[in-house]
Amino acid sequence: MQLELFQDDVKQVEIKKKEKINKLKEVDSPFHSWYRFVLSFPAHLVRDYLKKFNLTKGTLLDPFCGTGTTLVEAKILGIDNIGIEANPMAYFASGVKIDWSINPEKLLEHAFLVCKKAHKAIAKWNGILKTLPQESFKLLLKDSISPLPLHKALILLDVINDLKKDSLYKHELLAFAKMIVYYASNLYFGPEVGVRSNKKQDALVVESWFSIIENMVNDLKFNKPRTMGNGIVYFADSREMGDFLKPESIDAVFTSPPYPNEKDYTRTTRLESVLLGFIKNKTDLKNLKKGLLRSNTRNVYKGDDDDLWIANNREIQSIADAIETRRIELKKTSGFERMYSKVTKLYFGGMARHLSVLRPFLKKGAYLGYVVGDQASYLRVMIRTGTLLAEIAKSLGYQVESMDLFRTRFSTVTKEQIKEEVLILRWPG
Ligand SMILES: C[S@@+](CC[C@H](N)C(=O)[O-])C[C@H]1O[C@@H](n2cnc3c(N)ncnc32)[C@H](O)[C@@H]1O
Repeated sequence: MQLELFQDDVKQVEIKKKEKINKLKEVDSPFHSWYRFVLSFPAHLVRDYLKKFNLTKGTLLDPFCGTGTTLVEAKILGIDNIGIEANPMAYFASGVKIDWSINPEKLLEHAFLVCKKAHKAIAKWNGILKTLPQESFKLLLKDSISPLPLHKALILLDVINDLKKDSLYKHELLAFAKMIVYYASNLYFGPEVGVRSNKKQDALVVESWFSIIENMVNDLKFNKPRTMGNGIVYFADSREMGDFLKPESIDAVFTSPPYPNEKDYTRTTRLESVLLGFIKNKTDLKNLKKGLLRSNTRNVYKGDDDDLWIANNREIQSIADAIETRRIELKKTSGFERMYSKVTKLYFGGMARHLSVLRPFLKKGAYLGYVVGDQASYLRVMIRTGTLLAEIAKSLGYQVESMDLFRTRFSTVTKEQIKEEVLILRWPG
């Protein structure tokens, strides 16, 4: 094995990598860093709350598990964990991040073969650059990846598929997803996803992928704790749950649902979702959005009626009315603007539905932590997300234990400090 072959290039990648993942504490890098997105919360937050909940064993649920921060942290701490996620890319990522059963040496060896073959294929390619089918390409954010890095990435993906080894395949694809976003693309996250003006014309596609695999291998070899929790992730809608959960089986919940704002959560994972084939066309995208909590006007559909769940909540109704009144005053008439008050109600209705269907699965005395942020995206009308959710939870029989300030950020729109809080609930049984 001539792993040194890649060493110089991998070193360059390492330097870039340090710059990119600075948001995750070094100590929390193992497993968590396999793939994260801008919506992920820090691992220490999960740790701190599990301590507060006094949870050292039992089952922890994250019903909006995203990239699996809660699950990975629980697994590290030896706590069994269950995730639910409705975005196929995030579902895939969190599932792979808690699968530590593969043989790291075999992964390294196989990845090396993939690299060799991919390098050869890239070197001898002299035709037209490879690209995606039109239907898929149109789903990408414009210029999110330049033609040459895309070409190289598609060759690498072909080789991963050609040499497919079932036991290693998912890990290789997850490394591919991380590589495409962080090393090959023109995307930046801050906190919205955007396309940088200074486009990358080329990128170390194969080398970056290999470096990510090396990190996985290191974690699997050296960072696995002696006692690990068992984990499983379900591809499902947390407003419906399902019979995959056992009654009264959940000891605690820790999660961060979407917030009511204009963020289209499917944009955050669009590039890797399209490349890995989770979304192939507009219909797939629409179906994905339909499975998500209604948190922005880009995912509101005819027949949506989650708002019925909060029809009697005066506070939410009056916020929705205030948004609509402001819209009329400001003469905002686009289709999306007309939907602002409706989506606010749909959001809280969806959360009410979730909190309602969750109840039979909770053990008596279970603690729940919901990380949520205040928002003022709808014509500057302040939405105190945590406070409103606390009211809804109370009406469904939960006890409200506390509302802890997690962090604040200054809103340039309202000139106010916007709070992100952790709402702590308890299920009395
Ligand atoms: C703020 S993110 C969670 C991030 C996660 N804490 C992490 O560290 O990666 C919210 C997640 O909820 C998911 N989601 C939205 N609606 C959902 C639903 N109805 N059921 C399950 N998951 C949903 C989104 O796809 C997104 O991944």
